[in-house]
Amino acid sequence: MSPPDPARFRAAMGMLPTGVTIVTATGPDGPAGATANAVCSLSIEPMLMLACLDRGSRTLLAVQAANRFGISVLHAGQEQIARSFATKAPVADKWAGVAWSERDGIPAIDDALAWIASDLRDVIAGGDHVIVTGEVTGLETSEGDPLVFHGGGYRPLG
Ligand SMILES: Cc1cc2nc3c(=O)[nH]c(=O)nc-3n(C[C@H](O)[C@H](O)[C@H](O)COP(=O)(O)O)c2cc1C
Repeated sequence: MSPPDPARFRAAMGMLPTGVTIVTATGPDGPAGATANAVCSLSIEPMLMLACLDRGSRTLLAVQAANRFGISVLHAGQEQIARSFATKAPVADKWAGVAWSERDGIPAIDDALAWIASDLRDVIAGGDHVIVTGEVTGLETSEGDPLVFHGGGYRPLG
């Protein structure tokens, strides 16, 4: 077995299919958002969410400034939003042309499959990323097929 390297690590984790979310917060410069799949529920009682954000993420700065964050779970028709929010384009450009609204004081992607609003609780170092946890303060859900990320690409379910 050859020693692990970052490319093989990425490829190995790429075998794990995930949903795709946009993590959002309103920072000092306005709404910020990043495509993220390192997101999960952490605890039911109390209700806690967890997201892992790159130390260089502008959205991480906004989350820490706002002390709140939201997670919009994308549906299969929102691939373009996922692509746009995965870039380092000027933050305002990411939101241009996207249907969004402010919910619980946090920017939310309209028509997402689920919306989870949280108050920031912990910020934990994790290598080149930071783990943020949040106490869930608001929830919304709707029906539809999820956007799925697998093997380095966006896939239809099934
Ligand atoms: C499918 C997919 C999943 C991603 N998941 C994460 C993630 O969980 N955490 C993260 O920090 N970045 C993740 N990224 C990368 C960020 O979206 C990217 O670094 C983005 O430019 C960050 O934007 P920001 O600097 O405006 O916050 C992901 C990208 C893609 C395409």
